[in-house]
Amino acid sequence: MNISMDGASARNRIFERFNCQPVPAARVVPDLAEDVRRGFARRPRVLPPKYFYDAWGSELFDRICDTPEYYPTRTEAQLLDQSAHSIIRRAQPDHIIELGSGTSRKTAHLLEACEANGLDPDYWPFDVCEEVLHTAAKALIEAHPWLRVQALIGDYSAGLAHLPQPAGRRLFVFLGGTIGNMTPDQAIAFLNELRGLMRAGDAFLLGADRTKDPRLLEAAYDDATGLTAEFNRNVLNVINQVLGGDFDPQAFDHLAVYNEALQRIEMYLVARRDQDVHLMALDRRYGFAGGERILTEISRKFTTESLTAELRAARLTPISHYQPTDRHFSLVLAHPS
Ligand code: SAH
Ligand code: AVI
Repeated sequence: MNISMDGASARNRIFERFNCQPVPAARVVPDLAEDVRRGFARRPRVLPPKYFYDAWGSELFDRICDTPEYYPTRTEAQLLDQSAHSIIRRAQPDHIIELGSGTSRKTAHLLEACEANGLDPDYWPFDVCEEVLHTAAKALIEAHPWLRVQALIGDYSAGLAHLPQPAGRRLFVFLGGTIGNMTPDQAIAFLNELRGLMRAGDAFLLGADRTKDPRLLEAAYDDATGLTAEFNRNVLNVINQVLGGDFDPQAFDHLAVYNEALQRIEMYLVARRDQDVHLMALDRRYGFAGGERILTEISRKFTTESLTAELRAARLTPISHYQPTDRHFSLVLAHPS
């Protein structure tokens, strides 16, 4: 961690308040090589969205959050600003554990509400991207002199059984609508695992995006500056780096379409022309026909009913639902049933 503060004692205090540890996988999950082998054997070809998030992908996502088209971040931030005190008074956390925390920008509202309510929980951000965890931790520690950050590096799709289990009341947090990047089966399995960690008195705060006018949705996933397109193509850079590939990302178009029947945005990379790609680590060539699509992400959009149903299927009982008047986003606070 690169700390730039005046004086050794200030530096020491910061190091005392920061810890970073890996969360070992609780079950074997495919690595990138295996995900590519399996995903490219399917039609349409498919890649898991977790591979977007190397250091550059996390940076691109952060920039997407500031585009005028990408309403989820600012909508959820406003909701958190308005509801943080109510959430914190209900949850009374000794620990805040955030899954897929990214830059933790919005979590600041929860931490400020803790401070105002005389609480000083430890913060446990959990993310697959080590670089973003470090940047986020540095900013939070500097902004909150009382805060201890216990960063956790790992892949939540590899299970949650090895997450540290601090004593006291925990508030688990999953923001940004990332639940929508999972299929319904994956989401319910994930929520069930999380529920399995929860004790009486713990709470879960879930941020989820809502169904709305498809034009607003498609614009949010295809911003005019082209950041989402670059974010989408970044998965090909990751494959090139990790698997010794020769993908030309510019030979693929970005496409985001709303699938009404499945209530989800589908993000694709579309081959601009016929092309062959060699992946050295797999000792394989893959042919792409012009117009062929790779499904790189789904982003499901919820109704109150579909959101509540998924929580209940995982034995979680919603106790408060916060939403703006336009109902463009939902924050749900839930307890173990
Ligand atoms: N919660 C933040 C960031 C959302 S972006 C927000 O609301 O703005 C999704 C985040 O989840 C990224 O930081 C990404 O690195 C992380 N992520 C994606 N898949 C993951 C996985 N399988 N395990 C752990 N973190 C993951
Ligand atoms: C992280 N996740 C909730 C984002 C979303 O909206 O599905 C990822 C993203 N993809 C394109 N833009 C943002």
